[in-house]
Amino acid sequence: MNQIKIFSPATVANVSCGFDVLGFCLDTIGDEMVIKKTLKKGIKITKIEGYNLPFKTEENVAGVSALALIEALKPDCGFEIEIYKKIKPGSGVGSSSASAAGSVWAINELLNKPFNTTEITNFAMKGEALASGCEHADNIAPALFGGFTLVKSISPLNILQLPTPEDLYVTIIHPQIEIKTSQARAILPKEIPLQNAITQWANVGSLVHALHTNNYNLLSDALQDVVVEPYRSQLIPNFNSIKTQSIIAGALGVGISGSGPSIFALSKGEETANKVAKAMKKVYSNTTINFEIYVSKINKQGMKII
Ligand code: HSE
Repeated sequence: MNQIKIFSPATVANVSCGFDVLGFCLDTIGDEMVIKKTLKKGIKITKIEGYNLPFKTEENVAGVSALALIEALKPDCGFEIEIYKKIKPGSGVGSSSASAAGSVWAINELLNKPFNTTEITNFAMKGEALASGCEHADNIAPALFGGFTLVKSISPLNILQLPTPEDLYVTIIHPQIEIKTSQARAILPKEIPLQNAITQWANVGSLVHALHTNNYNLLSDALQDVVVEPYRSQLIPNFNSIKTQSIIAGALGVGISGSGPSIFALSKGEETANKVAKAMKKVYSNTTINFEIYVSKINKQGMKII
């Protein structure tokens, strides 16, 4: 195999209470990438469609993660990367992670899988660091492992795969404004009150238990963020209305997707997820901001060859 075409999925990081540790993988939104083995060593980005991103390998997240992989393995060949970008950069659904994880996953496949998924995550984090200014794996892990993931630790990297309840659907609204992850991180407080920490870790534990036991009521109860959302929600127009109307439409919970501006809602069943989509649409139709809405099942597989 000298060439591979892949689907590299979008992801939702944080999942309300799990800032920088929880994430899940989407089914209907993602980039496509073509990776070719070449005789000439090194990494070359040969095509980028969809959005304006750097072609220079060292300045492109897919290039940087691929460089980390070949630096570790020193293969007797090189790779060309074509990126068909469907996920808007800065949208909050793991655009940079899809590129960073996609290139290394595909190269690993072309080389007959010398690395396991945790090792690939490590390489992809180098690309993610270029985009957001710090290494975090809460988008990369679900893109590579699929389903829900929890980043137990970054160093050493330890990723836990969590179960995905069968009937869980996600609705995403993406207001067409850009919030840079670095900006959304800069506004967060460095310290939090003990009472908020207690509430937050009780919610993370409950959410993990709810996923393991298919307990949708507990899941709904646990989807609360008292640490990050109060700050970041101010950057997203109509966040509170979206949340209220989505809950009225039947959503189990609503939160900021990653660092925003996208907002996600989890629902039991596709019908409810579609009702939530309608409710979100109604809220944003009253504004001048353009938006897109997606409904997706949770993607248990992650990356795939297409
Ligand atoms: N956990 C990260 C954040 C995800 O919320 O800043 C965004 O890349």
